[in-house]
Amino acid sequence: MAKDVIIACDFGSAAETLAFLDRFTGQKPFVKIGMELFYAEGPQIVREIKNRGHRIFLDLKLHDIPNTVKKAMRSLSALDVDIVNLHASGTRAMMEAALEGLTRPDGTRPLLIAVTQLTSTDQAALEKELLIEKPMAEVVMAYAENARGAGLDGVVCSPLEAGKVHETCGEGFLTVTPGVRFSGGDKDDQKRVTTPGDARALGSDFIVVGRPITQADDPVAAYQRCVKEFLG
Ligand code: C5P
Repeated sequence: MAKDVIIACDFGSAAETLAFLDRFTGQKPFVKIGMELFYAEGPQIVREIKNRGHRIFLDLKLHDIPNTVKKAMRSLSALDVDIVNLHASGTRAMMEAALEGLTRPDGTRPLLIAVTQLTSTDQAALEKELLIEKPMAEVVMAYAENARGAGLDGVVCSPLEAGKVHETCGEGFLTVTPGVRFSGGDKDDQKRVTTPGDARALGSDFIVVGRPITQADDPVAAYQRCVKEFLG
């Protein structure tokens, strides 16, 4: 799939989301649907957005025993989304089961990517709570390698990690990267941010952009600026 900008549609209702997407006349941006919207509105909102012609990254970050994840992925696969994800910490067995569940009888399937470590987890929590006494960067790369070994298509990571992930897991292994802000823009709660242009230079395959677009006075112009800076 070609590089693209994915808009994080972090809205609490279908009405708000569809009104937002209605502003994009003649364009069908790639959108990310997360837990907030999916749990509020259920699979119908996914069908509705898909029927409007958008590609969808369904960001539900699955993590359970392999059999449960396999069956959950089978349900998600029927929704015809383009990208889904899970936690790499669920183990290789869980990731392999997920791939199996996701694959349709005709052999097609959505792309499957892994969250390595959440960006909200810092080194102190990694060591003191998760009892992993290794540098975060090493843990992230090891989890990315596990994901690649299980046959997954890529990981969610910071643009700052994209180069290293490609070096370790191959150029074809996708890096889907949030934490993107326009130069001089508000960082919100993101700690380490990069501009769309820098994300491109660093090798990101997809940038996930929420508030710089959804909260902009002119979201369509903000999206177009993002596409221009990221895709050139
Ligand atoms: O509004 P903003 O551009 O910060 O939105 C980024 C999106 O990417 C949000 O939906 C957020 O939950 C998601 N995300 C993230 N950092 C991660 C994983 C996901 O910001 N490590």
